[in-house]
Amino acid sequence: MSLCNQHIVLAARPNGLPLADCWLLCSAGVPAVNEGEVLVEISNISLDPAMRAWMNDYCYIGGVDIGETMRAFAVGTVRESRHPKFHKGDPVRGLLGVQQYAVVRGDELDLLAVGDEPLSHHLGIYGMTGLTAYFGITAEVEVKPGQQVLVSTAAGAVGSVVAQIAKLRGATVVGVAGGADKVAFCVNELGLDGCIDYKRGDFDQQLAALMPNGVDIYFDNVGVPMLNSVLNHINERSTIIVCGAINQFQQMDAVVGPSQYLRLPERHSTLKGFTYFHYVDRFEQGVAQMKEWVAGGQVKQFEQCEYGLENFHNSFNKLFSGDHRGKLIIKP
Ligand SMILES: NC(=O)c1ccc[n+]([C@@H]2O[C@H](COP(=O)([O-])OP(=O)(O)OC[C@H]3O[C@@H](n4cnc5c(N)ncnc54)[C@H](OP(=O)(O)O)[C@@H]3O)[C@@H](O)[C@H]2O)c1
Repeated sequence: MSLCNQHIVLAARPNGLPLADCWLLCSAGVPAVNEGEVLVEISNISLDPAMRAWMNDYCYIGGVDIGETMRAFAVGTVRESRHPKFHKGDPVRGLLGVQQYAVVRGDELDLLAVGDEPLSHHLGIYGMTGLTAYFGITAEVEVKPGQQVLVSTAAGAVGSVVAQIAKLRGATVVGVAGGADKVAFCVNELGLDGCIDYKRGDFDQQLAALMPNGVDIYFDNVGVPMLNSVLNHINERSTIIVCGAINQFQQMDAVVGPSQYLRLPERHSTLKGFTYFHYVDRFEQGVAQMKEWVAGGQVKQFEQCEYGLENFHNSFNKLFSGDHRGKLIIKP
């Protein structure tokens, strides 16, 4: 019996926050599996801010075409294989798209070593977001005990892991999050030393009160204008790591940089950027370290699961409204 695949197609490019008419829920038969290909039944799809950039005509890894199935990282199990490396039932990960089934070339898939953990954790803590956090806060900068570390989107997928690792390194860690509930989550669940509620509108005063000794490391997931305020509080020889700029994502053709960048030369400081893709040859080592920390209870994974492709639009936009904790995923 031929399988029917529900999939989300990019129907229109957004202007600002994506509206419902950017997406179309379609159904089609699953294509035949050719030599070298694998049919994957998708169980969990990653919802990532980067997908908003992929909706644009231009994006540094190429935009998704109108009429194409939306690109997304996903995990699932092999249902049929015509590739020697994969067998029925194997857990796999790849850029499988927002859909129920994917037929992909075997060389585009990762074969996953899954223990007791849910497969979805290979999108979060052992996937793109966890590894971005790990390499960003361990390889891009060396956190030393007693340093003052500030992390934005601290209640989210990347930020929550960055903040926990910086705590493990012995730093004083302050988060930034939107709303009192998220502030409580960062302090009580993540064990941070404090958290700024940026939605209160007095960011600068909260930063000065929570970090009276200034900022040695800022892990920036938000961009301007928050970045400008932080620049005014950096110490001598501080490091700012540009991981993302979610505040700029709705207008990628009019991105604004930091007006307060002269604090960098004045304070002999560094602003640098990286992406997860720059560490591709070290993923195995990163996953091994994350597994050790998770097994030892030193790092916790937080995940929020959404259900059904018919709810994709609302689920995806939670990344921008902030209506989630930790890694946001959807089960198709
Ligand atoms: N460099 C890389 O390779 C790489 C890889 C993955 C992710 N990233 C970046 O890391 C950042 C976080 O990604 P994630 O996957 O972990 O997402 P996430 O933090 O789980 O979700 C996004 C969060 O951003 C916050 N937010 C949304 N709009 C905002 C705004 N205008 N100003 C301030 N905060 C806003 C919301 O939290 P609040 O409720 O607290 O507002 C929301 O929960 C993004 O900038 C992303 O692009 C970079």
